Amino acid sequence: MTKSNVESWGSRVGLVLAMAGNAVGLGNFLRFPVQAIQNGGGAFIIPYLVCFLLMGIPLLFIEWSMGRFGGRFGHHSTPFIVNSMDPKRVFWKYIGVFGIFTNLAVAAYYCYLESWTLSYIWHSVAGSFQGQTADQISDFFTGYISLSDGGYETVFFWIFCLLLNTWILSKGLSGGVEKVAKIGMPLLILFGILLAIKGVTLTAGEEGAINDGTVGLNYLWTPDYSTIWSAKVWLAAAGQIFFTLSVGMGSIQCYASYVKRKDDIALNAMSAGWMNEFVEVVLGSSILIPIAIGYLGIDKVVELTQSGGLGLGFKTLPYLFQQWGDVLAALAGIAWFGLLFFAGITSSLAMGTPCMGFLMDEFKWKREQSAWAFGLAIFILGLPTVLFFEQGVFDEYDYWAGTVSLVVFALAEIILFAWVFGMDKGWKEINRGADIKVPPVFKFIIQFVTPVILGWVFFASLPDIWKKITNADLKAKLLETTDPAQIQAINDQMAYLNGSRVLLVALFISISYLVYVAYRKRVKEGRGIV
Ligand code: ALA
Repeated sequence: MTKSNVESWGSRVGLVLAMAGNAVGLGNFLRFPVQAIQNGGGAFIIPYLVCFLLMGIPLLFIEWSMGRFGGRFGHHSTPFIVNSMDPKRVFWKYIGVFGIFTNLAVAAYYCYLESWTLSYIWHSVAGSFQGQTADQISDFFTGYISLSDGGYETVFFWIFCLLLNTWILSKGLSGGVEKVAKIGMPLLILFGILLAIKGVTLTAGEEGAINDGTVGLNYLWTPDYSTIWSAKVWLAAAGQIFFTLSVGMGSIQCYASYVKRKDDIALNAMSAGWMNEFVEVVLGSSILIPIAIGYLGIDKVVELTQSGGLGLGFKTLPYLFQQWGDVLAALAGIAWFGLLFFAGITSSLAMGTPCMGFLMDEFKWKREQSAWAFGLAIFILGLPTVLFFEQGVFDEYDYWAGTVSLVVFALAEIILFAWVFGMDKGWKEINRGADIKVPPVFKFIIQFVTPVILGWVFFASLPDIWKKITNADLKAKLLETTDPAQIQAINDQMAYLNGSRVLLVALFISISYLVYVAYRKRVKEGRGIV
């Protein structure tokens, strides 16, 4: 290991909490309920659980063991972790670029979303939403993201959030990330449980509720077999598993690369993974949906989620909290946005570590320098999502980095692990030092089932990817209108979307170039990949 990168985890509990914190994120509380509703409630849960078992768990085993394997050779980011599994074929390091690219591009928009939670905690404490109508609270959100009031508050909280992430990262794994996870995760679970109790015990006719809290829960948990074979529902379920577990991202490998060679990864991977599922399926489904359906009814909530999911958590919920009286509303606001904040920051910190690991390993940068480089990169990449949120730049990043990239990288990883590195060696890696007996069926699943599912997810997504690249939906809208103002707005939007794609491609090429330089440097210094 290089002198500049001598990080390590302080304790096993700290590692598992940090890994769980990496997985538990805004996706658990904002994305999961909305995906579930958009895909028919009970129709979503079966594909979701199947994807968790057949794709999520295998990928967790693979990524943890890849990370620990690469860590033996002093690698802490995916380009060289991935390459260390097949050192003769040097192209793998460019596949590993995904593991830095995705983290940077996701962090760019994710930290912006995370910063909203800070502002909303502040407004909950200050009682800003007291006595406001639903429209007023909704207008506040619209004004906040459209920067219509000059954007001072929006930008202030965003920069503050970036500085906070940078500062914590500069304190290192055990001194920063692990401490935040040890404080944040228990608080998040506590806040989640309190809100979930309130959510599921809502009673029709009390405090203005029209439905019991159980109506929303039933909507989500009553299996619906009518759309079970819909490819759209399966793709959405697979996408949610990727995003929520942070698999295909590169951050799990980075965290795991600091685990010692003979330390367990199998039980650790399962602890973090199942903790994420508890938070997502138990807490994530017991807050937003029961409360929203309790007050608004199923049809209205389905309608609200059609126009995107963020509105429900930021526009609707703060208003519904007001029905509980000033004090409880303030406390509920603090708990809700507080849990979102902790969920967000424990994930965004994980997104910072691969880029830092790369700079420290390859260019001998100090930890503080590397943390600031990450902060600066997120500022530059995130700026378009702040300035042009309404033009769809935020969603565009989410689509390419937070959806497509994950699938592409995971597919490459599983081919490498099961078929190039070899399943026998891979199985030994998973089981080395294991504190549980991994069911042997997973050897078969990893080798045959997961690659087939991943391949299907990838190929089934291609038509949608093509539609995106060609801006097909926007072009169709252009044909439907003759209004010059609308035509101009659509053309502008296309320009913003194309611009953000160019930026993302430029990011990928720049990281690839740095990986090339790092590799040349290794060759020159006589340091191999393994
Ligand atoms: N896994 C993180 C989330 O769910 C990225 O938000």
